[in-house]
Amino acid sequence: MEFRALWDEIAAIGKEPTGYLRYAWTEPELALRTWFRAQAGQRDLAVEEDGNGNLFAWWNPSAEPGVLTGSHFDSVPHGGAYDGPLGIVSALLAVDELRARGVRPARPVGVAVFAEEEGSRFGLACLGSRLLTGAVAPEAAAALRDRDGVTLAEAAGGVPKGHRPDLLARISSFVELHIEQGRALTVPVGVASAIWPHGRWRIDFAGEGNHAGTTLMSDRHDPMLTFAYTVLAANKEARLRGAHATIGRVSVEPNATNAIPARVSAWLDARAADASVVDDLVAAVTARASERATRDGTRVQLTPESLSGETAFDVALRDRIAERLGGVPVLATGAGHDAGVLSAHVPTAMLFVRNPSGVSHSPAETASDDDCIEGVRALADVLEDLAC
Ligand code: GLV
Ligand code: MN
Ligand code: MN
Repeated sequence: MEFRALWDEIAAIGKEPTGYLRYAWTEPELALRTWFRAQAGQRDLAVEEDGNGNLFAWWNPSAEPGVLTGSHFDSVPHGGAYDGPLGIVSALLAVDELRARGVRPARPVGVAVFAEEEGSRFGLACLGSRLLTGAVAPEAAAALRDRDGVTLAEAAGGVPKGHRPDLLARISSFVELHIEQGRALTVPVGVASAIWPHGRWRIDFAGEGNHAGTTLMSDRHDPMLTFAYTVLAANKEARLRGAHATIGRVSVEPNATNAIPARVSAWLDARAADASVVDDLVAAVTARASERATRDGTRVQLTPESLSGETAFDVALRDRIAERLGGVPVLATGAGHDAGVLSAHVPTAMLFVRNPSGVSHSPAETASDDDCIEGVRALADVLEDLAC
């Protein structure tokens, strides 16, 4: 199997010294889609676009619902190579593998490319699959803005089409292969049981911009202090609950060395095994930020930007796949995926490929070629089982 050869075809696209920059509807991500269309063409797969930026390449298309696999090309800022693209390259190779085995599927087999899974450009995770499934209104999505103020409608060339029940009805099951993103998998391949509920909130801290040299310490209304306290409080509150809280993005105005900031915006990412724990965690962080704001003479406002409920994958499909693959491990993940969105509409499963370091959303993310090849074989086994 030519895993390395196909993988290397896309390795340079969007690669910067600091990691991958493959934001949705930017030049590198569009180049990856062009590459995908060419790969589909070489395999005689019929490509369709759903009006939401998602691509589907069908082998053996017919009126019968088909088995769908695939993932996303877009990356987080300065991300790794595997999160997303591994599922697409593996899907193309799994089609090759099935053909090499002489398999003639009784139902269609599709390879999907979902748009803006990371939400790194427009803030809403799994945007393409949310549009497809009607989980977000096209007008609301169209109005989302990136960091440069460009709307999604401008980036994507129009208002998305939104809910496509006709297309969903043509999917009998969806299986997404993805690199595992922690250290939970100690063998080459595993099967997902669940995705932790999670969300992103923007926290705006407003204070009074003023001179760093002349403003008495007692006169200040410094939102940076409220922000700094909130970062520590989020970490503590998450630890107390066995949950995860991260503030990994911040913007400061005016961002000057010699000025007390007027405004700080930060983004809280909160996750836990249980939705009530996420709610409780966010409430606790909000309460502590507000208390501190009273002390600092600042103001705090929390705005949800992306919410993902708990996903429990289809149990029968999960068990069938785990057994078909010889009893591979079944594990939950704290990472979000389009499979989580699709799972509310079609029987859905995920395959994970071992991540030796457990690092992800970082240029250090990696997987061995041998494990990736195992992943392709496993995916081909699963597709053969489900499509024949
Ligand atoms: C996406 O990978 C996420 O978990 O945020
Ligand atoms: Mn991903
Ligand atoms: Mn990711």
